[in-house]
Amino acid sequence: MKDSPRTAEVVTTCAQIRAVVTAAQREGKTVGLIPTMGALHAGHLSLASLARSQCDVTVVTIFVNPTQFGPGDDFAEYPRTLEADLAALAPLGVDWVFAPPTEEMYDSRHTTSISVGGVTEPLEGRHRPGHFSGVATIVLKLLGAAPADIAYFGQKDYQQSLLIRRMVADLKVPTEICVCPIVREPDGLAMSSRNVYLSDAERMQALALSRGLSEAHGLFAGGQTSAAAIRSRIREVLASAKIDPIDYVALVDPENLTEVDEVDESTIALIAVHVGKTRLIDNHVLGERWAG
Ligand code: PAJ
Repeated sequence: MKDSPRTAEVVTTCAQIRAVVTAAQREGKTVGLIPTMGALHAGHLSLASLARSQCDVTVVTIFVNPTQFGPGDDFAEYPRTLEADLAALAPLGVDWVFAPPTEEMYDSRHTTSISVGGVTEPLEGRHRPGHFSGVATIVLKLLGAAPADIAYFGQKDYQQSLLIRRMVADLKVPTEICVCPIVREPDGLAMSSRNVYLSDAERMQALALSRGLSEAHGLFAGGQTSAAAIRSRIREVLASAKIDPIDYVALVDPENLTEVDEVDESTIALIAVHVGKTRLIDNHVLGERWAG
């Protein structure tokens, strides 16, 4: 029964998940895939719920991908909570969880990496060298192992979603990409697996990201079209919360990520900062409803 809550079946090899996906497709069923690194929260679950409503079979992947972490990043500390993740997925009726060990995705002879040009270069690309190549490589491998009909990603990682769209278009990967809205805490903080790193005081500081974006939204709604004016308001909000360093506050074209001087409803405001040891990102398309 599709609607009864049940624990998803966990598989750990590419051969197993490929057999599951291709068998379902041979029966005429559609398969939805949600790639994650686990430590699931309501943002991830919103992707899984949408997949469940749109596809016959839903697969969530849980894999903390080493190649997208830089030398100073939090790969070792990244939360690994498989039991809690399975419990969080059970009420949604997700069918399969693909949770491979590292060696399954990267055996000792692995030498291939995917480099997507253009949209990967500014912003995150400048601050996290190598990160997007790691993301592109693992997403292509996951789509190879689990050749789903639709794969779901979050707008929370906006630049990531752009590079994945570019990659599947360039490499003719026959999976449709669906990008879903950012899920926020009631106080506006964008949900992230990394929020667990924040102390109570840091969590208060972190609210400045969504506050800055909601003020940007308000300025635009009130008729402000100068990117410089909106950018400096966001920076003021971040500064008033003593957030330092700020990696970037950018108002960019949503397709090619080039900075704009005059904003319109398609312009996206993107922020990346450090709060204590935690790096946080958030964004908002100025013309969209503020959901915080
Ligand atoms: P992860 O950070 O676990 O996120 C998995 C998916 O959930 C991504 O598509 C991300 O954009 C989405 N997501 C995260 N927070 C969200 C929120 N608050 N609202 C809506 N969606 C949210 O992104 C990755 O993992 C990895 O880079 C991955 C694509 C799995 C490759 O390793």
